[in-house]
Amino acid sequence: MKDQTQVPKHVAIIMDGNGRWAQMRRRPRLVGHHAGAKRVREVVRACPDLGVKYLTIFAFSTENWKRTQTEVAGLMKLFKRYIRREAQNLLEEGVRVRFIGDRVKLEPALVDLMDGLELLTADNDKVHLTIALNYGGRDEVTRAAKRMAYDVSMGKLNPRDVCDETFPKYLDTHVLPDPDLVIRTSGEARISNFLLWQSAYAEYEFIDTLWPDFTSEVFAEVVGRFGVRERRFGAVPV
Ligand code: FPP
Repeated sequence: MKDQTQVPKHVAIIMDGNGRWAQMRRRPRLVGHHAGAKRVREVVRACPDLGVKYLTIFAFSTENWKRTQTEVAGLMKLFKRYIRREAQNLLEEGVRVRFIGDRVKLEPALVDLMDGLELLTADNDKVHLTIALNYGGRDEVTRAAKRMAYDVSMGKLNPRDVCDETFPKYLDTHVLPDPDLVIRTSGEARISNFLLWQSAYAEYEFIDTLWPDFTSEVFAEVVGRFGVRERRFGAVPV
């Protein structure tokens, strides 16, 4: 199983440390989020050269609503701006964009932009970018269970057929492969409710770099480290 050249096909990132990055510069937290958005652009562009086909980023969690109204509103504005400004570039660069998370609580203007970007880039296949927005792993699993229970109640699904291959079909990520590598920036070693089901066998990299300092060089370095790790998926080494 040891392969010196293996590349993580799917990388998921918990982009943490924007607030601290701004505080260190005595600037408002939103300045850190704006700097973080620049890194999102850079990291997405770096994917083809690194051989990363799927990139999933944690932009806003179901818990992030607890932040101040100013920060939440600023983040929502930033997401809308990112979609408006980047749509054409993403289309031309071959990036297919998807959003995961519960859209019900998001403002309609943002949801329209998200739907539009998904539709616009639906034929792209070079890089698959998934943005987790109002996303929580437990929330996703709960929503999936609800949908599955509904299918059972409608006679569309036999409870006897429920297995660990059926269940992920109800998750937001149903069209994506499981992540091979999950990166969290800013020195915190927590999963924070991100891709709970999907990351069962993922490798984790907790790095000290704050997200606004996460350059494509740092990204390449972390992805490179994955190449020398040995993944066993519960089996013994061969
Ligand atoms: C965590 O840092 C970061 C967030 C909650 C927001 C992530 C958003 C971006 C990187 C903005 C751009 C995203 C897109 C998709 C355009 P934190 O605020 O928790 O940092 P702290 O732990 O230092 O306070």
